Amino acid sequence: MILSIESSCDDSAIAITDIKTKKLLFHKKISQELEHSVYGGVVPELAARLHAEALPKILAECEPYFKELKAVAVTSTPGLAVTLIEGVTMAKAIAVALNIPLIGVNHLVGHIYSLFIEKEEIFPLTVLLVSGGHTQVMEVKNLTEIKSVAKSMDDSFGESFDKVAKMMGLGYPGGPLIQELAKNGDRKKYNFTIPLSQSPLIAFSYSGLKNAVRLAIEKSQKEDYKDIAASFEHIATAHLIQKLKKYFKTAPPKTFAIVGGASANLYLRCKIEELLKPYSAVLLLSELKYCSDNAAMIGRVAVEMHNQGIYTALEGLNVSPKSEL
Ligand code: KG4
Ligand code: ZN
Repeated sequence: MILSIESSCDDSAIAITDIKTKKLLFHKKISQELEHSVYGGVVPELAARLHAEALPKILAECEPYFKELKAVAVTSTPGLAVTLIEGVTMAKAIAVALNIPLIGVNHLVGHIYSLFIEKEEIFPLTVLLVSGGHTQVMEVKNLTEIKSVAKSMDDSFGESFDKVAKMMGLGYPGGPLIQELAKNGDRKKYNFTIPLSQSPLIAFSYSGLKNAVRLAIEKSQKEDYKDIAASFEHIATAHLIQKLKKYFKTAPPKTFAIVGGASANLYLRCKIEELLKPYSAVLLLSELKYCSDNAAMIGRVAVEMHNQGIYTALEGLNVSPKSEL
């Protein structure tokens, strides 16, 4: 079995995965959404302190599995440095105490493998990762051959939902709150411009849209918020669809996946399904409970890394806020 730890942002999670069967034997996650909600976003130092409380509590529940562990895995990049260090320090302590190898996992690869929890891998894949930290399209051949083909130049898709929710005083995380508010809104009421629509670049940008939404909020009343939310969600999604369409002209998709916390967005899922129809492409989605950050996806990557003998030396495992993908 492999024990895996996730602490890259505001979720403390630990999983135990069976190496042979890929079955998830244990998974527990303690989210900090309530604690950060009053600030309208994640406060890194507060998050680190909460991880320091939550992780040992979850680990205590894993003790019955300790004798069976063949490796310990942990998210080491990308994420908040002060929160990553909590998980990495715990993983190193476990590796030393149980004399087992250490596996440093890239969180973005984790999101890709959220598709394969308790399942076999399916490759090659074109993946859209939409989370709080990333908006990225990747061509994935296998565990180690992952090529990024489009990225955000500024804010991410999920982050723009968080910021709009904060501007409306709704709380954190903004994604589900905006989605709920937008349900009864008029998507055409506010004519926000689709970012980079005149640009030949295959890249994403959300900061301009965020500012346009800010101006609309400043000029309107609370009863208009549902229409602003609906129009924002529509344009934020239209931007993704427009750039994917452009990309598909040279690289038509066969198997396409959406992963990351914001892949739970129903409007986005629906628009992606429409987009894929003419290509008869297969759409893969993670189970809803594994879209947002979790340790099961880190464990699933670690099983593959263990099977390929990819370990990280104790002194070589450092946290790195930026990813190399
Ligand atoms: O993957 P994740 O849990 O954490 C990161 O790795 O960043 O993603 C969290 C992000 C937050 O920005 C949150 O607002 C967004 O995912 N999110 C959504 C929805 N559910 C979560 N964004 C849009 N619509 C949703 N339904
Ligand atoms: Zn994530």
